[in-house]
Amino acid sequence: MSTVKNDNIRRVTVHVLQSMKNRGEKISMLTAYDYSMAKLVDSANIDIILVGDSAANVMAGYETTLPITLDAMIYHAASVVRATDRALVVVDLPFGTYQGNSKEALHSSIRIMKETEANAVKIEGGKEILESVNRILSAGIPVMGHLGLTPQSINKFGTYVVRATSEEEANKLIEDAHALEDAGCFALILEKIPATLAARVASELSIPVIGIGAGGGVDGQVLVLHDMLGITQEFSPRFLRRYHSIGNEITNAVRKYIVDVKSQDFPNEKEQY
Ligand code: KIV
Repeated sequence: MSTVKNDNIRRVTVHVLQSMKNRGEKISMLTAYDYSMAKLVDSANIDIILVGDSAANVMAGYETTLPITLDAMIYHAASVVRATDRALVVVDLPFGTYQGNSKEALHSSIRIMKETEANAVKIEGGKEILESVNRILSAGIPVMGHLGLTPQSINKFGTYVVRATSEEEANKLIEDAHALEDAGCFALILEKIPATLAARVASELSIPVIGIGAGGGVDGQVLVLHDMLGITQEFSPRFLRRYHSIGNEITNAVRKYIVDVKSQDFPNEKEQY
């Protein structure tokens, strides 16, 4: 277990997560992409911070996650790692940096680990990416799998609807989940699949299974931070619980500031030198 900077807090490790699953304690996970947000999330004692390639949507305004580069992910991840004392930091391997070429997958993962000091990488897909998973694991880099709705494959499916609703798709997902566990992944994300299927996978696998839109029968939950805080307001799938509407509060604060500037209320005498 790695020690960290202050208060004798120890960083969550993959072993800590495994023992949480073993004793039935649910795992909390959120995304973060920058220093300031990551510091707030970490100080609330989240277990895992995901530097997701959803940064492409949330930070850069792209419609899909495909355009984000490895360099951009490294920039975001290094900022997040600098902010965290406690959470395990997992970084998404972006589209085009691991598919079909396990040596490139290893090279991309090594860059992430060396240049960001994150704790693990996440990779989308099942049996088709096993060679990459094996090669990354051979370098001692922990790998989190991701099945169900895999946003990097959006062009193959054309929609973000619930996945694995047919028996054939569900069976493939179960086989893929076992293959990722057998390969040595330390955890698995299941995105937007029926709750009964997700619960079955979580009970069959010994590694932690974390869900997003996958019901309560899994070992933990992940949400995109900006969605649950109400910063991104246009995205409202059924699985999303909004814990705040910070987006509105920010806009209102900015409106007040504009009024104060225009009316010359700001700055007042105490706010100048
Ligand atoms: O990129 C991301 O934010 C993710 C989560 C939705 C799991 O992969």
